[in-house]
Amino acid sequence: MCGIVGYIGERCAAPILINGLKKLEYRGYDSAGVAVFDNGALKVVKCKGRLKCLEEKVANETLEGKVGIGHTRWATHGEPNDVNSHPHISNSGKIAVVHNGIIENYIKLKEFLQSKGYNFESDTDTEVVAHLVDYNYKGDLKEAVMSTISELEGSYALGVICSDCPDMFLAARKDSPLIVGLGRGENFIASDIPAILEHTRDIYILEDKEIAVLDKDNVKVFNIYGTEVKKEVFHVNWDVAAAEKSGYKHFMMKEMCEEPKVLKDTISPRIKDGKIVLDSINIEPEYLENINRIHIVACGTAYHAGVVGKYLIEKLARIPVEVDVASEFRYRDPLLSDKDLVIIISQSGETIDTLFALRESKRKGARVLSIVNVVGSSIARESDEVLYTWAGPEIAVASTKAYNTQLAVLYLIACDFAKKRGTIDDEQLERIIEQLKEMPSVVDKVLQNKEAIQKFSSEHYNAKSIFFIGRGLDYALSMEGSLKLKEISYIHSEAYAGGELKHGTIALIEKGTLVVCPMTQDDLLEKMISNIREVKARGAVVLAITQEKNKEVEKVADVVIKIPDVDPLVAPIAAITSMQLFAYYMAVQKGCDVDKPRNLAKSVTVE
Ligand code: F6R
Repeated sequence: MCGIVGYIGERCAAPILINGLKKLEYRGYDSAGVAVFDNGALKVVKCKGRLKCLEEKVANETLEGKVGIGHTRWATHGEPNDVNSHPHISNSGKIAVVHNGIIENYIKLKEFLQSKGYNFESDTDTEVVAHLVDYNYKGDLKEAVMSTISELEGSYALGVICSDCPDMFLAARKDSPLIVGLGRGENFIASDIPAILEHTRDIYILEDKEIAVLDKDNVKVFNIYGTEVKKEVFHVNWDVAAAEKSGYKHFMMKEMCEEPKVLKDTISPRIKDGKIVLDSINIEPEYLENINRIHIVACGTAYHAGVVGKYLIEKLARIPVEVDVASEFRYRDPLLSDKDLVIIISQSGETIDTLFALRESKRKGARVLSIVNVVGSSIARESDEVLYTWAGPEIAVASTKAYNTQLAVLYLIACDFAKKRGTIDDEQLERIIEQLKEMPSVVDKVLQNKEAIQKFSSEHYNAKSIFFIGRGLDYALSMEGSLKLKEISYIHSEAYAGGELKHGTIALIEKGTLVVCPMTQDDLLEKMISNIREVKARGAVVLAITQEKNKEVEKVADVVIKIPDVDPLVAPIAAITSMQLFAYYMAVQKGCDVDKPRNLAKSVTVE
């Protein structure tokens, strides 16, 4: 969601900004622009559409300046068009601003600025920031930005340049991500690491309400009171290739193919001498003995991982678990105390609703353990304890490998808590640990079977509506399978508990309706077979996903995608890969932009 890049140094800024923005395309956007300080004035070039359009427009200008800010916009206030694109410039032409987030009090500020004679061109909330900095500017840009952010309500990551100060620019953030890249004789800002990785691996992670003042040789960071803050340099240790397609047609396929490796990276270091060791957290047996409840809170795919987590923790550790969508949890005045553990799940670590749910939980005294992929992200920093999913950068908008690793961490947590509470015997624990260790090779085998899924998709990609049904853990999987399909193929889809379909939704099943059935739970297999018979009796075409051993499924389903014979408890990690592949091939067959689906953003940093 909105990407920001800023540059100051000895090189021509515009190409660096545009290249950086390309690396942030995955975040989702509908327009783009740059502002460069050039020959004594600020020049702004911006347009609706892809970065290619911006590149063409920039090629027709002479933009030689060495200081600039760039932006990809995901529309919130005002439709995607040239005028609403960022950067926004003050009426005086002195101040240019790029912004990610939402200024909640922008109407009040706009009225105030209009009363002072400022004219507004766009429908955006961001334009108030450009005019407000201009209004507050009395010769000191840092002071002007500080006064401005003290008046802003809502969320922001900002890049600000001023034609009076050609040798510097400023950045500030609150509740929207922003990093500072530290180069030699040049410095950068960006919404995310891939944008600057080819230039530097040393970064500062800005905290809320911090302001960075950058020139080409120095970066100084100040708090809201203007006091300089000593920042620690964070060294990025993943390589550039991790954020490149490396020969794959789509990031999504590359990321699915990485699942065996990232599962190994996530699981192996946490199993030592046959025992689960979660040494980055310190949840004591006494705490778990007296725990009231666990709340798992997340959005989208991460929420679906949480639903699996509920099954696992309740089954193995016998602790009651509630799972909530973060945007609901944060506003429903949840009942929390110091005896509640809140598990936050987030790939990006920056999803605003999830971040605010975390803060609400801490405010109410609950302990917060997060499962996060992006090291040093806001959620990771603000949690009491963190377990990282070592999935590496996930660029495709549709989350795949991060989900599998979120599941892996939830298995580890459920087993760890169960062991500490004495609710699992050694034999069962050993069996699960052995199965978890096998998961990378099991998922590898699922990936090797991709042609079968591709073939099925090539025959059914014209489907108008697809239902996913499952029971138990397979119901949780159905939700994720259905989300994956709809977000990238735009095919309408719904997920239902196998037993629930007949309470209304079965009315939609007619001749030819496609129904996808994950069937990995031995004790529920017969029940699911009955559910398949029900939909088949109404003309449905059934695709089942099940372990090789379940021969009886072949007798009822039209097509069966086999996964290796794994224990039902750990089967979701393997079965979901088939469903991700299914969504992928359906979208590819339909000619959809798999990595950048319409209307979606990778990191949802606005409410
Ligand atoms: C779907 C998807 C989203 C995210 C959701 C939460 O493929 O990626 O549903 O799972 O926006 O994002 P994170 O995990 O970054 O908090």
